[in-house]
Parts: sequence; C-alpha cells; structure tokens
Amino acid sequence: MNKRTIRDIDISNQRVLVRVDFNVPLQDGAVADDTRIRAALPTLSYLLDRGAALILCSHLGRPTGVDPAFSMAPIATRLAELLDRPVKQAGAVVGPEVQAASDALEPGQILLLENTRFEPGEKSNDPHLAAKLAALATVYVNDAFGSAHRAHASSEGAAQAMRARGAPAVAGFLLERELDYLSSVVAAPAHPFVAIIGGAKISGKIDVIDNLLDHVDRLLIGGGLANTFLQATGLEVGDSLLEEDKVELASDLIHRGGEKLVLPNDVVIADAFAADANVRDVPVTDVPPGWRIMDIGPTTVQRFRAALLGAQTVVWNGPMGVFEFPRFAAGTLAVAQLLGQVTQAGGRTIVGGGDSASALKQLGLTDAISHISTGGGASLELLEGKTLPAVAALEDKI
Ligand code: 3PG
Repeated sequence: MNKRTIRDIDISNQRVLVRVDFNVPLQDGAVADDTRIRAALPTLSYLLDRGAALILCSHLGRPTGVDPAFSMAPIATRLAELLDRPVKQAGAVVGPEVQAASDALEPGQILLLENTRFEPGEKSNDPHLAAKLAALATVYVNDAFGSAHRAHASSEGAAQAMRARGAPAVAGFLLERELDYLSSVVAAPAHPFVAIIGGAKISGKIDVIDNLLDHVDRLLIGGGLANTFLQATGLEVGDSLLEEDKVELASDLIHRGGEKLVLPNDVVIADAFAADANVRDVPVTDVPPGWRIMDIGPTTVQRFRAALLGAQTVVWNGPMGVFEFPRFAAGTLAVAQLLGQVTQAGGRTIVGGGDSASALKQLGLTDAISHISTGGGASLELLEGKTLPAVAALEDKI
C-alpha cells in the first residue's frame, strides 16, 4: 500500500480522530455480531498503548436524520467490554459540547461520537462538517475499510480537512491489511486464480465480473445471478429470480468469458420461495414452469471442486443460493468448505460479503481462510479496479 500508516507518525500525546466502520448488526438493543469492532482493535490498542486519546466516529445503518434506533450506545458498551476500559459517549457528532469533550480527553481515554449519519452533511461530504470533525483532533486515522468506497464527510472529507491544516491523515492497520490483500489479487495474483461470484442480483456484480475476467483462470457463477446467465444461454428458468434487462449483458459476458466462465449444470429447485417448499435437484435443462432455482446442485459443487483443484488464489463473494433457508444452504456451505481445503493446500483465499463470511462462521472455518474482508461493497469496488475515495484522500508514502 502506498499510503502512510500509523506506524509512520508520532502518536504520543496526540488526540486522534479514528474513522472506524462500526456499522454492525444489532438485536434487541445490543451488538449481534462484533466482527467489525474486533477488526479495529489492533489499531485502537496500538494508538492507546502510545498514549493517544481517541475520538472514534462511524456510521450505523442508514438513518434519515437523528434516530435513537441508530444510536451508537450499544457499540460503546461492546467496545468498552472488548478494550476493558471506559468508552465515553458524545451526545452528538459535532458541536461545542463535543469539541469540549474532545479537548478534555486525557491520554488513553476514548470518546465515541454519535452516528455520523445523524448529520445531514455526512453523505453529501459537506466541507463544513468535515472541518468540524477534523478540529476535534490533531491526527486523522482511517481504519474503516467497509466504508472506504464512500466519499463522506467523516471519511474523504475529514482526511482532506486534516491535511489542509497541515496535520497527518493516515491509514490504520485494518485498512492497510485489506488493501494489501485485495489489491495484490488484482495486481499480481498467483495462478491458477479462481473467482467465485454469487449473490442474488447480477446488477451489482457486472463490473466486478467484467474486470475479473481479465485476470482469472476460471470464474465460477452461482446464486440468484446465475439464473440470468442460464437464461442467456437459452435455458428456461421457470419462476426463478431473473433480471430480464441484464440477459443481453450476461450473454456478452458468456461470450467474452468463453471457457473461463463456469455456470451451474444442476440446481436445487423449489415450488415456492419458502423454507418448507417441495424441493428437487434437477439438471439446468429441466427447470419446470412454476418452479424456482434456490441453490446450486451437488454436480455443480463437484464441477466447482474440480475448478478449484490446485488453485493458488481464490476470491469468493456472494452465496450460492437462498442461504437463509437451511435446505438451500448446501451449495454455499460446500463452497465454504472447498475454500478451507484450498487454504490448507497452500492457496490464498479471500472472502468478501456478509453472507459468505457468515457461512464460514457457521462451519467454524473463519480461521481457515487467508483473509475475510470486513467490506462487502468496498471489496467489490477494489476488485472492479476502482480507486476508493476515502483511501485516495490519505497521505502517500514519502
Ligand atoms: C457496509 O456495511 O457495507 C458499510 O458499512 C457501508 O455501509 P453503506 O452501504 O450503508 O454505506
């Protein structure tokens, strides 16, 4: 990574504004999955150990204005448990009280700001909001890989505002690790390089498939988006999820991909979108009207296994079926297992997207993967070959 990091600057006695991605699932007012909070701990501990005072900021969900349901309070509670030290909560994102609370911080103390999306200027990257955020601290650190594809006031804007004051704006360890893994996959992957792309819709994945086709040896397609590809080959997909307006595009990708592109050859179908529907495993040529594709079938899993044999680099994003219903989770779980095997055989495996990550978690395979990205959208944009604005705004290595 060609950006300066917290290793490159003097942290002692600084007030550090850290943009983290604590956009985590909540349940009954508590954090339901703290993976993203844990992922930021190495950076936070490094800064605290060097006598910094921390001002942390993040968005949570997609509130429209101030909404107590999206308050950062449950996150402050969980973070305090994980760090085993108090986390003060600011009642707002910016303003005189927040400024006073920041100014009063002693080395080793932590202040968590309210949800940055409570401020209307966050998403519009308002320079006034960015300047107020930057004024809270003497150093800016971005460790929010999951939101690095957003040019928002607390990410791109605050980094620019801090640099405009001649103060440092650098990357944290999580951002560094994510960028090193994901960029190296596109820049110089070890071959054979196989990508597995799933998920419900083709629309969000077209650019990534398009870009990956230039780099991979095989691109395996599963999940709802495979239906549009199957239709493009002239097959009937019954009542399956389909994006009619993308069939032509899928057809172009099939021609461009040639032998590289591997589609399912059998599928698990159901007569309703329901956990207790009637289920069959059929060749892709035999999807009857009224039935819908819910998962890849066992023959396809074998096909994918063969394509992954000996792979040196594997990227996986998106489930292979309607993973939330256990009867349609077999394809996704099989792919998770295959990735574990590739890693064990010495290959490098990189996973992005919440569903793929939770399949790995369900199988206890989290540690069997080289890198599980904390950013679904951000990792896709990197794999598309795009520059992430929040990263671009940080200082380059000298
Ligand atoms: C994510 O969960 O992908 C990131 O936190 C970004 O969230 P957003 O899509 O609401 O900007």
